[in-house]
Amino acid sequence: MTISVTPNPNGFGAAIRDVNLSNGLTAEDIADIRGAWLDHQVVFFPDQPLEHDQLEAFTNAFGDFGNDPYVKAIDGYSNILEVRREPDEAVAPFGGSWHSDWSFQETPPAATILHAKIIPPVGGDTLYADGIAAYENLSESMRGELENLQAVHSARRPYSHEGYKASGGPDRSMTILPNDDAWATQLHPIIRTHPESGRKALWVNPVYTLNVHGMSEVESARLLDELFKHALSDEFLYAHKWQNNMLTMWDNRSVQHCAQGGYDGHRRVLHRTTLAGDQPV
Ligand code: SIN
Repeated sequence: MTISVTPNPNGFGAAIRDVNLSNGLTAEDIADIRGAWLDHQVVFFPDQPLEHDQLEAFTNAFGDFGNDPYVKAIDGYSNILEVRREPDEAVAPFGGSWHSDWSFQETPPAATILHAKIIPPVGGDTLYADGIAAYENLSESMRGELENLQAVHSARRPYSHEGYKASGGPDRSMTILPNDDAWATQLHPIIRTHPESGRKALWVNPVYTLNVHGMSEVESARLLDELFKHALSDEFLYAHKWQNNMLTMWDNRSVQHCAQGGYDGHRRVLHRTTLAGDQPV
């Protein structure tokens, strides 16, 4: 192996060095990075200046682009979104509630890739939650209870016209494209089996998971509250610190994330792609 992988102490998240992402990757680099990503779920590469074409080429080394709705892409680059917040922006950070990217899709993205352009001197971390550890730390009886349950996911809270208005509307510097198709729903298993590693993860998130299929509203709310509380316990979280030119790739099939604020008065800009994924099973 030519790349060097330095895992976080508990194995959730790892830094990857000794590779240049701007140059085209060898088949060996791609296999090693994929292996580290599957093992550690969140991998980050410090000090990797990349142009748009190079960010796209990095993404396509691992597969096809995902389908990214509801946010206007960068001009001329329909697969790159700019996550931007201006120094005087009064609305909450984009992605500032816990979610797994586009979990309302039939085939949600396998990975999200975020490349840091301007990182504020304070705040602006991204928190990640390890859904595999969350699953493995459920009681036997809870695992049994959840095994065959499905949850209803939808984009309606942030991306229907009503949800959009409630979360700051046009005051955001990013161009959000609310749409009535955000009312659609999609069923997914609550316990998801990873298509590559075979590991199981607790796979519900507070933004897009509306309710448990087939349960009364009260029962469903009780169960989801309990699952969110468990999945987002401190012991499963990792606070990721950004630097300019850092690229981070995480596995949406087992990880939730949440952008943090704390940098009012400073600009924060990152460029984002996603990698196409499978239908959760
Ligand atoms: C996102 O949810 O894609 C944004 C994450 C971040 O800005 O930290």
